[in-house]
Amino acid sequence: MHVVFLSPGFPAEMPLFVRGLRQVGATVYGVGDQPAGALPEQARGALADYLRVDTFGDEEAVVDAVRRWLRGRNVGRVECLWERLMYLAARLRAAFGVPGMTMEQTQVFRDKESMKQAVERAGLRVPRHGRAKTKQEAWAAVARTGYPAIVKPIDGAGSKDTWRCDGAAAFEQALQRTAHVPELAVEEYVDGEELTYDTVCADGRVLFESVSWYRPKPMVLAQNDWISMQNIVLRDLGADLPRPGVELGRRVLQALGFRTGFTHMEWFRTAAGEAVFGEIGGRPAGARLVHAMNYACDADLFAGWAEAACYGRLSQDTTRKYNAAMVFKRAQGEGVVREHRGLAGLLQRYGQHVACLELTPIGERKRDWRQVVVGDGWLVVRHPDLEQALRMSEAFVEDLTVVAG
Ligand SMILES: Nc1ncnc2c1ncn2[C@@H]1O[C@H](COP(=O)(O)OP(=O)(O)O)[C@@H](O)[C@H]1O
Ligand SMILES: [Mg+2]
Repeated sequence: MHVVFLSPGFPAEMPLFVRGLRQVGATVYGVGDQPAGALPEQARGALADYLRVDTFGDEEAVVDAVRRWLRGRNVGRVECLWERLMYLAARLRAAFGVPGMTMEQTQVFRDKESMKQAVERAGLRVPRHGRAKTKQEAWAAVARTGYPAIVKPIDGAGSKDTWRCDGAAAFEQALQRTAHVPELAVEEYVDGEELTYDTVCADGRVLFESVSWYRPKPMVLAQNDWISMQNIVLRDLGADLPRPGVELGRRVLQALGFRTGFTHMEWFRTAAGEAVFGEIGGRPAGARLVHAMNYACDADLFAGWAEAACYGRLSQDTTRKYNAAMVFKRAQGEGVVREHRGLAGLLQRYGQHVACLELTPIGERKRDWRQVVVGDGWLVVRHPDLEQALRMSEAFVEDLTVVAG
């Protein structure tokens, strides 16, 4: 199988997927805007060839350049796991007549309003919603959604420019704060827990599925710099917490006609136990969630995805053995990291359950968590019993401080 892979060196997890493709026997042709010498070793080592383009911005030029470069080589797939280049990937597929997501399908996965309409048409629960290019349209939309409402970019990411509004004054303020955003989504605010539903699919079959639980909500994290994020991959999908999301997620995939690859859906679970659709990407979750899923199953989903994409199967054992709780730490104070306060005691108590632990080393500068998603550290603790996993995860949130000064 010959695969064209867009941007093999960036974002950070792409080299792992390239490595996965190589591992399952694919021949991988990388196309990127980085100089070949700047590619991470893992990506470079797995590529059969690499085409550097000046920019991904001019899609037509990229298609022409790739066509010239590939001449005589047969391509079976065009893969792109980076949200930003998904339209380009669809264009390349159309140009070379290879299967995978088309332009229309990509639009449903990229545009929050289109995706909600498609999910809603299938009779599934989505927040009341509208789109707005002008202030007038925004006020008309909020008249339909009611308060509390959410204002966010129609094609946002990372909870950027996302505001909860409890009344008209807050809504006006949110419109001022988002005046630079070309198009907004206005939604009913759904109160509840926030979870994910992630899959690897092939030919419309779900080969792997997983639910993880954000604590706290991503929006709260984006607005409070002292909070450590936890994301817990749940072992038992039949339990009360994840089950409604699994049912919703499967139906969403069907409604959107998703065929092959990774998906990452976010959903809300109300106090009454109802699952409400949030958003979905036709790509893997970021923020190390694929790693956390791997730790929950002792599997390698980078290679698992590759096998599914190339050969339509997933032959690894992906049985979940653990609840895998991932924690991101943000250093307190400014400047250089001086201390990992509380770490020794935590390792003494829970060391055998720590699957991975990476903190900004003492003596290095504190990272900017707005730029580096893991901030000043990430760790995974895991346990077959959810309560135990949660207790350990809380302990690493509460009792571990990365101290800068
Ligand atoms: N309708 C909603 N109700 C409640 N919270 C929401 C709603 N829409 C967004 N949020 C909050 O804002 C965050 C970011 O919104 P989301 O649609 O996931 O965009 P993105 O992740 O692309 O920035 C969500 O994770 C959630 O915490
Ligand atoms: Mg989101």
